[in-house]
Amino acid sequence: MIVDLRSDTVTQATKEMKEAMLMAEVGDDVLGDDPSVIALENLVAKRFGHESGLFCPSGTMTNQIAIKVHTNAPGEVICDELAHIYRYEGGGMAFNSGVSNRLIQGDRGRFTLEQLKAEINPDDIHFPPTQLVSLENTCNKAGGCYWSLSELERISNFCKNEGLPLHLDGARIYNALVAQNTSEAKMGKFFDSISLCLSKGLGAPVGSVLTGTADFIKKARRIRKIFGGGMRQAGYIAAAGIYALNHHVERLAIDHKNAKELGQLLKQKPYVKDIKPVDTNIVIFQLNTDVSMQDFIANLDNKGIRVVSMGPQTIRLVTHLDIGDQEMDKLKKEL
Ligand SMILES: Cc1ncc(COP(=O)(O)O)c(C=O)c1O
Repeated sequence: MIVDLRSDTVTQATKEMKEAMLMAEVGDDVLGDDPSVIALENLVAKRFGHESGLFCPSGTMTNQIAIKVHTNAPGEVICDELAHIYRYEGGGMAFNSGVSNRLIQGDRGRFTLEQLKAEINPDDIHFPPTQLVSLENTCNKAGGCYWSLSELERISNFCKNEGLPLHLDGARIYNALVAQNTSEAKMGKFFDSISLCLSKGLGAPVGSVLTGTADFIKKARRIRKIFGGGMRQAGYIAAAGIYALNHHVERLAIDHKNAKELGQLLKQKPYVKDIKPVDTNIVIFQLNTDVSMQDFIANLDNKGIRVVSMGPQTIRLVTHLDIGDQEMDKLKKEL
C-alpha cells in the first residue's frame, strides 16, 4: 500500500465523484453555455455571499487573475513572506501584472492590522502605489494554520475604509472553516475576491473557483481567456467540484484529527527536532541535524510512504481524502 502524504492534491476521484462526472451536462464554457460550470460558479459564489464566480484550471491561475484585475503596473501587493502567491507562483505577479511585492513577516503566515498599516505606501512618487492586500487561509508553508476571525474583520474593515482591495488565497479555506466551525458567508464578507481550490482537501481532480462582484468576474473572465484558461466541455470536471462541495466538506475534520495524531506521534520520535503546531491537515517538522533528509525521504519511500521537503531539514505531511484508518495504521507502525 502506498501512503502518499506529499500533498492533499494527490487524491483519486471516488466512484461517486466519477459517476457525477459521467452524468454531467456539458456545453462550451468559453461560449458561456456549460450548465455544470455555471452551476459550480453560482454555487461557490452563493456560499461565500459573492455575486459571481469563475471556474479556472488551477489555484495559481485564480490568484494570478485576481492580482491582474485588482492592480495596475507599477503597483504593489502586500502579503506575508510565506504566501504562495509570492513564493510558489513563479514570479507571476511581476510577470503577469508588472507589480512588486511588499512582504510582511507575520506569525506563521498571519499578520496584524498594525503590521499591515505600517507597510502602506504614502502617495509619493518614490513608492509604488499600494493596490492590493492578499491573505492566505490556511497558510500552506506555515503548516496549515488559520487566521482569527477578529483579525480578519479588523483588516477587512481597514481595507474597505482605505478603498484597498482584499484578496483571499483560500486554496484551503474549507479547512479553516471546518476547524473554526464557521460559515462561508462569514468569511466571504471580509474579502473582495476569493480563490478556492477544489483539487486540494476537497478531493476533486482539477480546478479552482474565483469569486467576487459581477464586474470583477467579468474582467477576470477576459483575463482567463488571455491566460489560456478558457476550457470547453469543462462541465465534466466542474461536476466533480460540485460533488466535492456537497460531500467532502464536513469530512475535513477527519483529516485534521489524523494530522494531529501524526503530529503527536512525530513529537516522540528521536529524529524530530521540532514540529510546528498542527491546526488543520498539514504537519511540518524539522529533522535533527544528524539525520540526512534525502536518506530519510528515501527510506520512507522504500516503505511506501511518500513525503516532501519544505526546505532544509524540513518535511511536510498532508492528510487528505485518501488517508483512512488503514493508512493511519501503517503510518503509526512505519514512521
Ligand atoms: C495556498 C496555495 N495557494 C495556491 C495554490 C496553487 O494551486 P494550484 O496548484 O492549483 O495552482 C496552492 C497549491 O498548492 C496553495 O497551497
